[in-house]
Amino acid sequence: MRMAVFISRSAEDTINFAKGYASSLKAGDVVLLNGGMGAGKTVFAKGVALGLGIDDEILSPTYAYMNDYGGKLYHYDCYRLSSGAQAEALGLCDYFYGSGVCLIEWAENIADVLPEGYKTVTITKISEGERRIEY
Ligand SMILES: Nc1ncnc2c1ncn2[C@@H]1O[C@H](COP(=O)(O)OP(=O)(O)O)[C@@H](O)[C@H]1O
Ligand SMILES: [Mg+2]
Repeated sequence: MRMAVFISRSAEDTINFAKGYASSLKAGDVVLLNGGMGAGKTVFAKGVALGLGIDDEILSPTYAYMNDYGGKLYHYDCYRLSSGAQAEALGLCDYFYGSGVCLIEWAENIADVLPEGYKTVTITKISEGERRIEY
């Protein structure tokens, strides 16, 4: 698939870009948010939530693995998961096949249970405030 790049110059920039990106999403889309620690994956997720009309505060799901925003958005952080089987056992994979949008941080940890046809957004840190967002 052809990829495009957006250069973000602030967290606010990323939120606004992600808000627009959300309008390209369809029910049931699964999006892998790739990038290292502090890249801006959770900031991006906040923008997507705003774009989907979700008012709740978006918090990092690091300790919960996944936060469910009313069935509209499922935000995953798989950093502490070590296998797809573990995600499966925790019942985390069921939502991949529902009508909500799934955003997944550290999806590489559960690579073997990801559904087909996912989208990817890759965020790379350029400098303290700048990020390269490939989507
Ligand atoms: N252009 C930018 N886009 C996104 N975040 C940025 C940007 N510039 C600086 N930041 C900062 O980088 C951090 C990203 O944190 P977070 O989204 O939690 O990262 P991740 O979820 O990828 O580990 C935040 O503190 C944010 O304010
Ligand atoms: Mg995060």
